[in-house]
Amino acid sequence: MSWSMKHETVCGLDIGTTKTCTVVAVAGPTGLEIVGMGEAPSLGMRKGVVVDLDETIKSIEAATEKAERMAGIHFGEVVVGITGDHIRSTNNRAVVAVSGEDREVTTGDVRRVIDASKIINLPSDRQIIHALPRYFTVDGQEGVSDPIGMAGGRLEVDTHIITGSSSFITNVLKCVQRAGLETAGVVFEPLASSAATLLQEEKQVGVVLLDIGGGTTDIAVYSLGSAIYTATIPVGGSVLTSDISLGLKTTLAEAEEVKKRHGAGKGEDSFAVRTLDGRSTREHTTAELRQIVVPRVVETLRMARQKIVDNVPRDLVLGEIVITGGGALLPNIEPLAEEVFGLPVRIGAANAIGGLTDAMAAPQYATAIGLVLFGANGERDDAMRIGRRRGGVLARAQRWLADLWT
Ligand SMILES: Nc1ncnc2c1ncn2[C@@H]1O[C@H](COP(=O)(O)OP(=O)(O)OP(=O)(O)O)[C@@H](O)[C@H]1O
Ligand SMILES: [Mg+2]
Repeated sequence: MSWSMKHETVCGLDIGTTKTCTVVAVAGPTGLEIVGMGEAPSLGMRKGVVVDLDETIKSIEAATEKAERMAGIHFGEVVVGITGDHIRSTNNRAVVAVSGEDREVTTGDVRRVIDASKIINLPSDRQIIHALPRYFTVDGQEGVSDPIGMAGGRLEVDTHIITGSSSFITNVLKCVQRAGLETAGVVFEPLASSAATLLQEEKQVGVVLLDIGGGTTDIAVYSLGSAIYTATIPVGGSVLTSDISLGLKTTLAEAEEVKKRHGAGKGEDSFAVRTLDGRSTREHTTAELRQIVVPRVVETLRMARQKIVDNVPRDLVLGEIVITGGGALLPNIEPLAEEVFGLPVRIGAANAIGGLTDAMAAPQYATAIGLVLFGANGERDDAMRIGRRRGGVLARAQRWLADLWT
């Protein structure tokens, strides 16, 4: 079914390593309004990849049913988040001749040049998830953000291309389908988290989004308004929990509690930790906990930093680090990230949007809310997006919705 027939209800589905989250919104006359949200534990994913179909289906069904009940509507189509170690990104450039006799760039030309940029050397088991236009060049004039209507004979585009393993993606979509839902589109998760939390100004100046989840840490780097580098590291908050469990000789459940309560917190407090058999408790100090937590967090952040250093131009300007995902809630994570990156750090919660409660604005829901924003933008086709930028549902939405796909 075509998107346009259903665009008034938009639903995002984030199947994480620890939780599945479904968010449903309606695009009304005053903009987008969140009307339902559901969350359920996710036991069938590891590091962003499906390892148990049945568990994953169950989790999708549970989260979606909750969202439907809260919204009081039944929906069929969802925008699905994708992540995992199989994702790769690259930048590409393509050129076409402007086709019309009047030498004016049309939507068709834009579509053709973006399609041309998708011609990359791709193994047969991989597919393109996004081809995001970074900027266009018309007759040698670089840095054009919307070339439609411009006069010129030669149209070039620089795109950020994101690819993934076809079978890993298919497995996610199989679960979605078996849970009774249709996939309206797939979005690489850090792009969704960015859409929910970053401001256009931040993307313009240069910003790194880090989504620290349970099983993965996703990276998206923006410069001059658009994504320039994206990646995933298969390490997240779950490793930290098992480190604590081993270090303090306690259960994973108790370690998770300790992590959330004290994290990398400073001070010299002591606290009781239940022993493995659960029959007694042992005293530990925050200083001890820091010795376990800090090296692992710093290691993960350094891995992210190294990936960025290795893959973006040396002269790239970055103004800030924005952290989302449940890992953003780790007590005292900001100073650690500030030290590793040498940049100011802020915790990213979803930007204001109709119907968003304080609870929903927590960093671990940024991906699901971002998926809804992608859906509200109404297109899966990058070229069409550009043509429609001036009208439709988009025109009624907030300013920062307009540049989502870039
Ligand atoms: N207050 C907190 N302090 C520290 N860690 C936290 C806190 N709250 C949640 N977390 C951690 O965040 C992680 C879950 O984050 P999130 O919900 O973003 O992951 P996910 O989306 O399920 O996984 P992924 O994105 O990796 O597939 C867990 O490891 C959890 O322990
Ligand atoms: Mg996540």
